Amino acid sequence: MAAPHVVLVGLMGVGKSSVGRALARELKRPFVDTDSVIESNEGRTIADIFAVDGESTFREIERRTLDSVLASSEPAVIATGGGVVETDECRETLLRLRRAGARVVWLAATIATMAERTGRSNNRPLLTGDRESTLERLLDRRRGFYEEVSDAKIDTDGKSVARIVREVMKAVSQTSAPAGGRRVRVALGERSYDVAVGAGAISQLSSMIPADAKRAVIVSQVGVPSIPEIDLPTHLVHIGDGEHSKTLATVEDLSRQFAQFGLTRNDLVIGVGGGLVTDVAGFAAASWHRGTRVVHVATTLLAMVDAAIGGKTGVNLPEGKNLVGAFWQPSGVICDTNWLATLPDRELRCGWGEVAKYHFLTGDDLLAMPTDERIARCVQIKADIVAQDEREGGRRALLNYGHTFGHAIETVTGHHFAHGEAVALGMICAAHLARLTGRIDDQRVDTHYRVLDAYGLQSRLPANLDHDALLVAMGRDKKATAGLVFILDGHNGLESVPGVDPARVLESLALAAGVR
Ligand SMILES: NC(=O)c1ccc[n+]([C@@H]2O[C@H](COP(=O)([O-])OP(=O)(O)OC[C@H]3O[C@@H](n4cnc5c(N)ncnc54)[C@H](O)[C@@H]3O)[C@@H](O)[C@H]2O)c1
Repeated sequence: MAAPHVVLVGLMGVGKSSVGRALARELKRPFVDTDSVIESNEGRTIADIFAVDGESTFREIERRTLDSVLASSEPAVIATGGGVVETDECRETLLRLRRAGARVVWLAATIATMAERTGRSNNRPLLTGDRESTLERLLDRRRGFYEEVSDAKIDTDGKSVARIVREVMKAVSQTSAPAGGRRVRVALGERSYDVAVGAGAISQLSSMIPADAKRAVIVSQVGVPSIPEIDLPTHLVHIGDGEHSKTLATVEDLSRQFAQFGLTRNDLVIGVGGGLVTDVAGFAAASWHRGTRVVHVATTLLAMVDAAIGGKTGVNLPEGKNLVGAFWQPSGVICDTNWLATLPDRELRCGWGEVAKYHFLTGDDLLAMPTDERIARCVQIKADIVAQDEREGGRRALLNYGHTFGHAIETVTGHHFAHGEAVALGMICAAHLARLTGRIDDQRVDTHYRVLDAYGLQSRLPANLDHDALLVAMGRDKKATAGLVFILDGHNGLESVPGVDPARVLESLALAAGVR
């Protein structure tokens, strides 16, 4: 396990070394400046390494140095070189370390301040030509990277070193993972954010509230536990329960309440509830003043492992579910597993239906993990998929495993099965279809049954279902753009498979309705 280092990142001239040294004194820890370590190991200045061996050699030395500094088991304050975030491996290392408890703080300053401060040094090989425009270019390129790897950003302009140290210490204490909990990063460049997950994670809420927000509207429902008071004036709005409340009329009503409360574009919406609340609050925030920040506090299992993460927001129309919406990433998400205690059994079961799909997305043995760890792992899997494919152009579609069959089962049974229950049955149908098309063996089909049983989910399709009607419903699926499209398991994991033979689909339905 890596030590809980405090790592400072940021462009040259923001004060990483002076702040790092003072912070280390305050925390009674060693201070390590990776640039100084490189110079002492190499026996020459950074400017010399750049001049003789070039930037790529320097970056490789820097990567090795960072690895060895971070591997130390004694917690330290570490100041990094400004360009460390440009190396994929270094960013990966920083993100991995944060998952293990280290904290990364981004020190920032205006271009003018950085230009003024760097003017005193001649060991800045990238700072050639017009200093201000070079710094601007570097910041443009690196801003998203700093955002991605850091827990907090501190502006340093006009502040004394002592004050910056105090602010870093406050940020580090606020972003520390709750006891038994953790933070998962959704890495999306400038739109990156954290998901705090675990028992007591709600204590992390204040650290997710943007410093410049002046007021917040809390969107929730009657019966959903309330959040602790926050340090801003708030206005609480309860929206209705059930899919019939997930409408444009609800968004209009919310927006009018935003207006009456004086919510500005710099303020905050906080969605507190299940997937319905986070979808509606997220969509209202996405459209309010063309985009206002939103933090989600997920209170159902389904919202924790799925709906609140990834930025899909929207509402229903009489013509269909989730037809109007937007991608709008939150600024942070809280998944406090203590709140599952009040969740009705059926809602919990529906959440497990979505958790079950994660068993087939990676090779992890989720059943072997304690519940909170399993939920955190599902959050991590979803975060990784969203980071790779924010707009569902590819891999994100795999999160729809079991959904083509599941939606048809919901429709044809008139919603006798709730979404998560239908998805679980859908995965059994998909497993049989994959077996029939030679993609998986019997043993893998058995694994599907074993996973569903472990979550107390029904795994046998009711005998009296009309299979032809299911087939027609699947043909109407909005994803059925190339004949019948299914996400199917296989030797290489889940894949999207177009043009599936309807006869095979009917066979798999018959097998799913049989005794296993
Ligand atoms: N955006 C996405 O990526 C995404 C993904 C999956 C689902 N969804 C959407 O999520 C919605 C379903 O979400 P859901 O399953 O969370 O249902 P939900 O939000 O309707 O909540 C279910 C019920 O539980 C209550 N509840 C919530 N938290 C509670 C708590 N801690 N204790 C007691 N009661 C509580 C709610 O008031 C509600 O009555 C659907 O509208 C679906 O379209 C969105």
